[in-house]
Amino acid sequence: MQEAIRTLKNWLAESDNIVFFGGAGVSTESGIPDFRSVDGLYNQKWKYPPETILSASFFARNPEEYYRFHREKLVIDGVKPNRAHLRLAELEAEGKLRAVITQNIDGLHQAAGSKNVLELHGSILRAHCARCRKPYSAERMNHGTGLPRCDCGGVIRPDIVLYEEPLDEDVMGRAIHYIRQAEVLIIGGTSLNVYPAAGLVRYYRGQRLALVNLSETPYDSFADLVIHEKIGEVFSQI
Ligand code: OAD
Repeated sequence: MQEAIRTLKNWLAESDNIVFFGGAGVSTESGIPDFRSVDGLYNQKWKYPPETILSASFFARNPEEYYRFHREKLVIDGVKPNRAHLRLAELEAEGKLRAVITQNIDGLHQAAGSKNVLELHGSILRAHCARCRKPYSAERMNHGTGLPRCDCGGVIRPDIVLYEEPLDEDVMGRAIHYIRQAEVLIIGGTSLNVYPAAGLVRYYRGQRLALVNLSETPYDSFADLVIHEKIGEVFSQI
């Protein structure tokens, strides 16, 4: 495996057109559980399956229960970027990395200093009224009690993409653009199970696709380099 990490390090040294595409596994070393690992969110007991709670129709029907889940499971206080987030921010500052494309909603890439972050699934650090779309700070939504309401009477919701909702076309279009143009594409900490995000992999046209993920993914055979190790540990060596 050291050999693979050395290869990745060389690729990074030789390129100024690196793109990163990641998911929940990027933040587990910061203390945020992922969705599909054995101790992930989807394997915990809850009254409804989390995919159901995180859906638009459930939010409309049962916003109180949504907020119970949101505040207990999605909002984790005191989390900090880990070595993967920090190294990615460094690579961008060095003019080598063009974009971070993430499925995460935790804002940790920006906290690490990354500037060009494409949030495919939005962010729990922003909020807006579900009825009139007025923007709100996330404070009351994430840390208050009861249903956060807008002046218009609508329910305030997080700026995240719930199941049954389409991804933002502009963000998706830019993600496709960066991946198509990338010389080195690193994909990390994602099971590549959730579409349309996972389908982004297919837009890559180069020969330097590195996949850094603890477990196997459906795209392992598609990658030029596969590293099944913790991403923070790998990034501290590259
Ligand atoms: P998953 O939970 O499906 O996958 C996380 C992957 O990261 C797993 O394959 C783990 O093996 C791997 N992993 C965990 N810790 C790691 C570490 N320290 N280093 C390397 N790999 C690690 O999460 P996502 O693929 O991000 O969507 O899930 C995609 C979407 O499903 C999420 O954005 C969310 C969820 O439903 C919405 O909420 C819309």
